[in-house]
Amino acid sequence: MHARALAATTTALLASAILLFTASGTHAAADEPPVVIAHRGASAYAPENTLPAIDKAAALGLRWVENDVQRTKDGKLVVIHDDSLKRTTNAEELYPDRAPWKVKDFTAAEIARLDAGSWFGPEFAGTRVPTLAQYMRRVEHNHERLLLELKNPELYPGIERQTLKILANEGWLDAPHLTDRLIIQSFSTDSVRTVHELKPAVKTGFLGTPNVADLPGYAGFVDEINPTFSSLSTSYVDAVHALVGAHGKPLEVSTWTVDDADSARKAAGYGVDGVISNKPDVVRAALDG
Ligand code: G3P
Ligand code: CA
Repeated sequence: MHARALAATTTALLASAILLFTASGTHAAADEPPVVIAHRGASAYAPENTLPAIDKAAALGLRWVENDVQRTKDGKLVVIHDDSLKRTTNAEELYPDRAPWKVKDFTAAEIARLDAGSWFGPEFAGTRVPTLAQYMRRVEHNHERLLLELKNPELYPGIERQTLKILANEGWLDAPHLTDRLIIQSFSTDSVRTVHELKPAVKTGFLGTPNVADLPGYAGFVDEINPTFSSLSTSYVDAVHALVGAHGKPLEVSTWTVDDADSARKAAGYGVDGVISNKPDVVRAALDG
């Protein structure tokens, strides 16, 4: 290779490396479309929060998935959205006299017997509610990145420390994962703040749309503010971006839940960094277009 061409190539590679290593949150680059995050996995196409849902996201070429973490009666962390097992499993059928089928009232062994796929489609019969450890291994296997939501943390005292312990055990608190592959979010301010205090290196997000006047308070312990799409505006996104987050970069915005092309383009027009979607392929196609 000609010396000048070699120098140019080296410079380009260095620039890419710098971009890669300085990437913050879900944000790709200023002139790129927002990053697309598969909500509860690719949940329009496979049962939410299951291993097939993150496999489907990977098959669609998505890099980011989102999930929901809760705790069983005997203290195991599992991945499921509702505080009840009723909607997304056959708990009602298997345990008819255990209404209202709260996750926290069932042991991990009892939950492991449930079918978390048939409600969505017969081809998913036998799919299980994953433990967080099982889920992390599949995310790793799929080379995916995770927006992990602590769901209903007020029901599960200490879930922040316990989640961090499992993430550490699974190798997710090393520098490459912390830099690029993990964000922990919650609707609970206390829970997000606790994660930040326990492990300041972990990126965090607050789910909601705080008043603009309150945003500086959040910037001390979060990297992202993640509001509903319906609550968004360009001025709100600008107000978030104007602040520096917990890791010294501008606070970012990932919005939810956006499943159609028009809304995706509108969200991109607001200047968001990430779009959380049940139909991430639809959103990605709209944004790439
Ligand atoms: O990540 C955003 C979104 O997951 C928050 O709402 O109810 O789907 O967990 P929900
Ligand atoms: Ca969620």
